[in-house]
Amino acid sequence: MNIFVSGGAGYIGSATAEALLKAGHTVTVYDSLVTGHRQAVPEGANFIQADLSDSHMLAVALTTEKYDAVMHFAAFIEAGESMKDPGKFLRNNLVNSISLIDMAVKARVPRFVLSSTAAVYQSSEEPLTEESPLGPTNTYGFTKLAVEQSLDWYRQINGLHFAALRYFNACGALPGRGEAHRPESHLIPRVLQVALGQAEYAYIFGTDYPTPDGTCIRDYIHIGDLVSAHLLALEALGERDKLTYNIGSGTGYSVREVIDTAAAVSGEEILVKEMERRPGDSARLVASSGKIRRELGWKPQHDSIQDIIASAWAWHKEHPRGYE
Ligand SMILES: NC(=O)c1ccc[n+]([C@@H]2O[C@H](COP(=O)([O-])OP(=O)(O)OC[C@H]3O[C@@H](n4cnc5c(N)ncnc54)[C@H](O)[C@@H]3O)[C@@H](O)[C@H]2O)c1
Repeated sequence: MNIFVSGGAGYIGSATAEALLKAGHTVTVYDSLVTGHRQAVPEGANFIQADLSDSHMLAVALTTEKYDAVMHFAAFIEAGESMKDPGKFLRNNLVNSISLIDMAVKARVPRFVLSSTAAVYQSSEEPLTEESPLGPTNTYGFTKLAVEQSLDWYRQINGLHFAALRYFNACGALPGRGEAHRPESHLIPRVLQVALGQAEYAYIFGTDYPTPDGTCIRDYIHIGDLVSAHLLALEALGERDKLTYNIGSGTGYSVREVIDTAAAVSGEEILVKEMERRPGDSARLVASSGKIRRELGWKPQHDSIQDIIASAWAWHKEHPRGYE
């Protein structure tokens, strides 16, 4: 297939683009590099450096070739920041997504795969299924839910086939590919920066949550398993017009457990600073991924947080400055 990958210079988009190329697909990456890295775009992919808000470039990009699918990764991803500057997220994650979907439909692209998020759900004591109550606690989660719902209108009205993959926390590394957000807000790379001596402290935001050790609990999914879910969803959209799946490991770890595991894996002391809760964080988000396992035969290969952190640690030691 010929695939248009928005955000393919970022962490998850570039790893997926590489896997698509390996599977024999043709890939065009469309990325402004606002947070991504030119060096992360895999060899063999066409690259267009442009912003989704540039409607002229977007129209040219989507109409000069015939694409079989759009895989849409481009977005701002910091949930905490979305509670300080909602407009930034509403414009990029919602308005720009609608421009992309609209243009894809006009260009008669039949399939669309959206990077959605666990942040569309309310916090829950139980593992979250796709039927769990929706209720974003931050603007970031709201934008993703709004794009999912918009896609359903394009499905009903224009016959677009779409998949919304609700990722939990993507993490870990693949050979030559690791997590290097700018700025880095994700827990595992932040903690490993401390292990590498690049930061003084790991921060814990909130120690009074209703969890066993008082810190937030999250589900961590290895990047390789996330990528394999995309390839399965892309194929399945040939027959199915609407797919919504949680992509997580099904196991929750608290912030403190992640920090302790990173200290054990790296053999380094990790100094911690305890801070107030951040607005928009919920106590617990853990996936039940039974649906994609049952329906598409998805089988995650990495289920231990030690292995995931070890893969990240190996990458960060080898690339202390990320892709720079
Ligand atoms: N990382 C996670 O744990 C996680 C969890 C759930 C959902 N997601 C979603 O997965 C997707 C990818 O996340 P990531 O971790 O790879 O983030 P990332 O920041 O590494 O990648 C995002 C990419 O999109 C590009 N981009 C952003 N806005 C753009 C625009 N307007 N025009 C063109 N390019 C633009 C950036 O330059 C970057 O290369 C995002 O949509 C995110 O919301 C990520």
